[in-house]
Amino acid sequence: MQTSPVATTVDPSAGSQGVPDKVEFRNAMARLGAAVNIITTDGPGGRAGFTASAVCSVSDEPPSLLVCLNRSASVYETFKRNGVLCVNVLGAGHQAISSLFGGKTAMDERFASASWSSGPSGSPILQDASVSFDCRLSQITEVGTHDVLICEVISLSTGEQAQSLIYFNRQYHEL
Ligand SMILES: Cc1cc2nc3c(=O)[nH]c(=O)nc-3n(C[C@H](O)[C@H](O)[C@H](O)COP(=O)(O)O)c2cc1C
Repeated sequence: MQTSPVATTVDPSAGSQGVPDKVEFRNAMARLGAAVNIITTDGPGGRAGFTASAVCSVSDEPPSLLVCLNRSASVYETFKRNGVLCVNVLGAGHQAISSLFGGKTAMDERFASASWSSGPSGSPILQDASVSFDCRLSQITEVGTHDVLICEVISLSTGEQAQSLIYFNRQYHEL
């Protein structure tokens, strides 16, 4: 016998359950496995970094990607002021640094936990990242609680990491 998954639809006319609430939506989104990244910046606004899974490729011409940043995050103004950032893609063994940059730890303590170099934009590059994309912000779009940061890649560096760190069902997995 075939079983069908429980359907939750965002179109009230297309299903019986109606528009999902915040908790239903978050629980459903937890099923989207995603790469984990440390997003860093440095410049006139200071140095800052946070963990993000809402990162995706946008276009290869010009090479660009997007990062979603909560406007209520403590790092928000720093990223906006600097106008540059680096997406450091995490690999195996990076769970601890992900938790540090994804929590309430002081910024100096976050950066003291790893080794960094500096890209052309001045943003910190994580030494053993799987890959790092150094970017400048080209567009910002507000959507609900978050800003979608469209970033043009100005330089990239590929590391030696053979495995990727994935966040799925609120847990880390190495792939
Ligand atoms: C696995 C993981 C993924 C996250 N993804 C995002 C994200 O895509 N966008 C975002 O704004 N915050 C994301 N966060 C939360 C931020 O990392 C966190 O709010 C930030 O580091 C701390 O912000 P605060 O200094 O305002 O407390 C994520 C956290 C974790 C642990």
